[in-house]
Order: sequence, then C-alpha cells, then structure tokens
Amino acid sequence: MNNKLTIALPKGRIALDTLKIFESIFGSEFSFSDRKLILNRENFQFLLVRNQDIPTYVEYGAADLGIVGLDVLVENSADVVKLLDLKIGKCKICIGAKKSEQIDYSKPDLKIATKMENIAKTYFAKRSICVDIIKLNGSIELAPLVNLCDGIIDLVETGSTMKSNGLEVIEEIMSSSAYLVANKNSYYSKKVDILDIYNKIKKEID
Ligand code: PRP
Repeated sequence: MNNKLTIALPKGRIALDTLKIFESIFGSEFSFSDRKLILNRENFQFLLVRNQDIPTYVEYGAADLGIVGLDVLVENSADVVKLLDLKIGKCKICIGAKKSEQIDYSKPDLKIATKMENIAKTYFAKRSICVDIIKLNGSIELAPLVNLCDGIIDLVETGSTMKSNGLEVIEEIMSSSAYLVANKNSYYSKKVDILDIYNKIKKEID
C-alpha cells in the first residue's frame, strides 16, 4: 500500500473486536495504550472516536474508513459509502416501557424518551402517531421510572439494563450491527487500498 488509511473506531467493545480482526489479519498486536486516541500500525492509523461521532469523521474525510453501528448511520443520515456488515455489535432498537404497563398510543400527551431522535420521529410519523419525543443523551431506562416519559426507544443488546430497571420490550423497530463505511472521496482516491483491506476483513469474518 502507498497511502496510510485512517480508520475511525467507536470506543468500547466494537473497537476491541475490530482490532482483533486486524490482529488476526496481520499477525501482530493492534491495541491502544495509555488512553491514547491514535494508534499507528502497519499502513493504518486508527482513531478512537465516540460512537455517534464516527459518521462525522468519515463524512468530512478526517477518516477514510469507519466502523459504525447501523443505528448511528440511520440516525445521522450519514453521506458515506456503506461497505460491509461486520456482524459484530449486534443489537436491536426497541420501544420499551415499564413492565406490565402497555403504551397507550392514542394518549394526547404521549412522551417517548430516546437518544435516537430521528429514528423515533420517523417511526411514529410513519404510523401517524402524535408523540412528544424527548431527547436524552444516556441512561434512557431511567426516564420512565421517574415519569419523564411513557416509554423509551433505545438500543437493546443483552436486555439486562431494561430488565434490571423493571422495563420490557414492547416492540422491535430495527436490527443493527457494526458496518465498515468509507468516505466518498477516499473510496475513489484510495480504492485499491480500501478494497484490499475490505477483502481481507471479509475473508476474516466469513
Ligand atoms: C446502551 C443502551 C442501553 C444499554 C443496552 O447504553 O442505551 O442503555 O446499552 O445494553 P443491554 O441490553 O446489554 O443492557 P450505554 O451502555 O451505551 O450507556 P448510555 O446509557 O450512557 O448511553
């Protein structure tokens, strides 16, 4: 490869799982140290980025490639090239409410709390349900417990956060997993390098 490829990884499990894929491909250690946010290995530069910010880094070209959840891509309407489902970070986006309390969708002042404002708005608009979407940034499961809202739209992976807080899934909205995405310009200018690593990753996960 001639050019270095910059790859934005979301902090947490997905970053570790992605680096394991690279370790397996190149047979050497790929890991961030000392809370550093940039890692240089082989012909790659990895950036450790907050999940919701990955589409921004890739869309603006600060990163050529990114690994990002489908839910984040949909929420951000990101203008990036979706290349490959890595089949890691699998989860579902669900409507949840207090156990044994169904949501009354005809309630005039129905309130739903979520991090995923756009996914929520689109979902209810398609069903012509009038709802007040309350945007929160985390600990979504807390909101119905203190009557901030009637229900939530949130990511469910193991289901333990909902369960521990006395909530249950009412409905599944979409499935999500982590995707490899590319900046549109990089996809043309660095196509050979991008396709090379794309094929190596694909081989590794198939
Ligand atoms: C996410 C999500 C749920 C939880 C689901 O939160 O918003 O709260 O994980 O995972 P589970 O089904 O395995 O319990 P995150 O841990 O990212 O923290 P946050 O509340 O600060 O967003």
